[in-house]
Amino acid sequence: MDGAHYSNGHRRRKLEMTLLLACLCGLISLSCAGRPSVSRQKLQVEKHLKRLNKPPIKTIESPDGDIIDCVPISHQPAFDHPFLKDHKIQTRPSYHPEGLFDDNKVSNSKGPKERSSPMSQLWHMNGKCSEGSIPIRRTKKEDVLRASSVKRYGKKKHRSIPKPRSADPDLINQSGHQHAIAYVEGDKYYGAKATINVWEPKIQQPNEFSLSQIWVLGGSFGEDLNSIEAGWQVSPDLYGDNNTRLFTYWTSDAYQATGCYNLLCSGFIQVNSEIAMGASISPVSAFRNSQYDISILVWKDPKEGHWWMQFGNDYVLGYWPSFLFSYLADSASMIEWGGEVVNSEPDGQHTATQMGSGRFPEEGFGKSSYFRNIHVVDSSNNLKSPKELGTFTEQSNCYDVQTGNNQDWGHYFYYGGPGRNPNCP
Ligand SMILES: *[C@@H]1O[C@H](CO)[C@@H](O)[C@H](O)[C@H]1NC(C)=O
Ligand SMILES: *[C@@H]1O[C@H](CO)[C@@H](O)[C@H](O)[C@H]1NC(C)=O
Repeated sequence: MDGAHYSNGHRRRKLEMTLLLACLCGLISLSCAGRPSVSRQKLQVEKHLKRLNKPPIKTIESPDGDIIDCVPISHQPAFDHPFLKDHKIQTRPSYHPEGLFDDNKVSNSKGPKERSSPMSQLWHMNGKCSEGSIPIRRTKKEDVLRASSVKRYGKKKHRSIPKPRSADPDLINQSGHQHAIAYVEGDKYYGAKATINVWEPKIQQPNEFSLSQIWVLGGSFGEDLNSIEAGWQVSPDLYGDNNTRLFTYWTSDAYQATGCYNLLCSGFIQVNSEIAMGASISPVSAFRNSQYDISILVWKDPKEGHWWMQFGNDYVLGYWPSFLFSYLADSASMIEWGGEVVNSEPDGQHTATQMGSGRFPEEGFGKSSYFRNIHVVDSSNNLKSPKELGTFTEQSNCYDVQTGNNQDWGHYFYYGGPGRNPNCP
């Protein structure tokens, strides 16, 4: 296209065309200038959803609105982890804290005393996953969009481990997380167990949560803190409702880059086809009425070194491979049991988000929330009563904890509270 072959008219028209095009392009790029971030975020969300939601072989709709996908066990998110590419799935632990692992013993271990009311997950009403697949709560677009960023979805916002006897009280208060816990430290621990009654605490603000859990901790309380956590929680931001849900959490760097809730990142390997992480637990305890509790056991398999989790007496859920951790690859240095809430201080006052049943410990059975039959796992893989339970709470007028010890319940404690009240303004 040599200009020399065109007349002046041609030339002018060409110039006009060029100007027009330039204008159009200018307009387009102007009108698009605001959009790339939006479409990039949309793309990011879609990519993330694709990573989390593996193609199911069956889908079950739960009455609470959850979608449960049955995903082949070898296609679960854990296997996106580069270190797990050639991992051979352990379908069961080699050892249980009571000795060699025995399938029959796990499902028959309900002594008459231990039998509590049947606890199940809501989605069971509408179907089950077949052997060889695992139930995964599907992550919806809304779930991710509620998070502060795609990257933070499924992660705790900040460090939230209660550190008893902290030299720096400012540090405790600053994070806005409040705890009422019992703990042991000063030994090497290879697991922990407790039976926890389940409630549905009221949450004042969607960005707050209330949970009750076991912490298995390794390392000092620095940037490299290792933690494995399991229990029940109500978290509107994470799940989009106020239901009480079974959850797990892990981190190997104090909640920074590694770890997440449930199966929301690569790490935990689930082997159980009946229980879905993050799914609602039902029924829950009612004030002066039926009490429902769940047992949680986390222990380190002495043979493979992985940390296993059992829910109730019947369900071995799966394991955290030992390579995920630094300190916990050896043993835990501290165990904590209890409640945690986020106090975002809405309207400049203490939050009214409840912990446990929303009642103080002194009200006792049928009213307060409890952890009972508290055990640790020792270096010989035996369940043992802790020698002594310490307690910790930031503001006992808001949430408190009281330990006890008797024949039936072994070591136990009541904990919780209403949050805001005349003594906790
Ligand atoms: C946290 O702050 C509250 C009031 O702001 C205070 O009463 C309480 O003692 C603090 N807790 C600790 C552990 O310092
Ligand atoms: C959760 O509970 C709060 C009050 O505690 C309520 O305002 C909110 O609408 C509830 N959210 C859902 C999704 O039901």
